[in-house]
Amino acid sequence: MPTLTHCRDDFPILQRSVADGIPLAFLDNAASTQRPQSVINAITDCYERYYANVHRGIHTLSEESTTRYEKSRTSLARFVNAEHDHEIIYTAGATAAINTVARSWGNENVTANDTILLTIAEHHANIVPWQQLAASVGCRIEFLPLQDDFNIETDAVRSALERFQPKMFAFTAASNVLGTTFPVTEWTRLAHEHGSTVLIDAAQSAPHQVMDVQAWNADFVVFSGHKVCGPNGIGVLYGKEKLLEAMPPFLGGGGMIRRVTTDGFEPAELPDKFEAGTPPIVEAIALESAVEYVTAIGLDEIEKHEQRLATHADTGLRQIEGLRMIGPETRDRNGIVSFVLNHAHSHDVAHALDASGIAVRAGHHCTMPLHRALGTSATTRASFYFYNTMDEADRLIAAVAEVQKKFAPTGRKRQPRSSG
Ligand SMILES: Cc1ncc(COP(=O)(O)O)c(C=O)c1O
Repeated sequence: MPTLTHCRDDFPILQRSVADGIPLAFLDNAASTQRPQSVINAITDCYERYYANVHRGIHTLSEESTTRYEKSRTSLARFVNAEHDHEIIYTAGATAAINTVARSWGNENVTANDTILLTIAEHHANIVPWQQLAASVGCRIEFLPLQDDFNIETDAVRSALERFQPKMFAFTAASNVLGTTFPVTEWTRLAHEHGSTVLIDAAQSAPHQVMDVQAWNADFVVFSGHKVCGPNGIGVLYGKEKLLEAMPPFLGGGGMIRRVTTDGFEPAELPDKFEAGTPPIVEAIALESAVEYVTAIGLDEIEKHEQRLATHADTGLRQIEGLRMIGPETRDRNGIVSFVLNHAHSHDVAHALDASGIAVRAGHHCTMPLHRALGTSATTRASFYFYNTMDEADRLIAAVAEVQKKFAPTGRKRQPRSSG
C-alpha cells in the first residue's frame, strides 16, 4: 500500500541525478507529473500479456483488453463520482476534451447573440477552442478580470453572470500559474441560477483534490491523465448524461457509429459516440492504476502536503529582495509557486536552477492573456506534487536567492555607449 512518507521509492525517475550527480528536484509537476512503478507495470503488463484492439474482436486478447478498458472507465467514474460510467469519455487530454465540448455542444447551442464567459486566468486550452467557436458562430467572449490579490471574488462572478447572461461559463478550478483555487460549487450554482451551462477545467485540481462532479453539479469537467501520474495521450471528458446524449459526435470514424450507409450514419450510444477510432487503450488501463495509486495515498493528504510545501516556498521566496510573487498569499491555493526576478529573465532563472538539479518551468505557461494582465511576458513556476519534500522546497529557495545575487547589477557604473 503506497504511503505519502515512502512514496518516493515508488518512482524510479526520482532516484536519478542530474547536473553532475546532483539529486533531481522535480518541481515541474503542473506541466506533467512522474509515474510510479505500478503505472509503468500496468503499461508493460498490457503490452506483454493481453494487448489487442478493443470492442471489435471476437478473440481472447481483444475481450481481455476490452474488459480492462471498460473497467478503467468504471474506476474513473468512481474517481470523479460520476453517476454513470458512460458519462466518462476518454479523449487525448484536457485540450481535446474542451475542444469536443466547444465544437459539439457549442455548435449546437451557441448563436451570434450569445456570450461565453471565461476568466482571464484560463490556460489557452480553455480560451482558443471558444475563440474558434466564436469565429464560426459569431458569439462574444468576455473575461472575468483578476484582482490585485490574484483572486476573483464571487461577487465579481455574480455581476458578470448578471451582466452578460452567458450561454457557457467555462473556468479553471485551479490556476496553472497563480496557484489560486476557485470555489467551483458556488460558481457553478450561480451560473446555473443565471441559466448558464458550466465547464470546469480540472486539469490542475484533479491531481491534487478530491473530485465530486455530482456535488459540484458541473455540466462538463475535463482533466488530463499525465498530470495525475498517468500516461500522456489520455484525458477525461465528464459530461452529464442528458447533455452528452443531446450532443452530436465531434469526431467521425470507426467505433462511434451504430450503422453507416452510403447516405449517412447513425451514431452509437454513449460513450462510444465520442470515442471515434482506436481509443487510448493502454493509456486508459494505466490511468486506472494511476488514480488507484493517488487514491491510496489519499487526495486530502496530497492537498495538505502540497500546501505545506508551497506555503514554505512562498514564505522563503518572498524574503528575496527584488522577487515578485505571482500568486496569492492566502491559503486558497494549490502547490504552484510562480515569481519574477527583477534582474533575471525567467528562462535564465530556469537554466540556473537546472544547474542546481531543480526542474522548474519558465515562460507564459500557455496563459498569454493572464501574463499580459499581470504586466509581464514570462514567469518562473515551481509546482509541487505529493512526492516532493521540504528539503526540495529549501533547495529551491536557496538556489533562487543565489540566482538573484548572480544576476544583480555589480554596482559598477556602466560606461555610456558612444553614439558617434
Ligand atoms: C489549467 C490547464 N488546463 C488545460 C491544460 C491542457 O492540458 P493538456 O495539455 O494535457 O491537454 C493544462 C495544461 O497545462 C492546464 O494547466
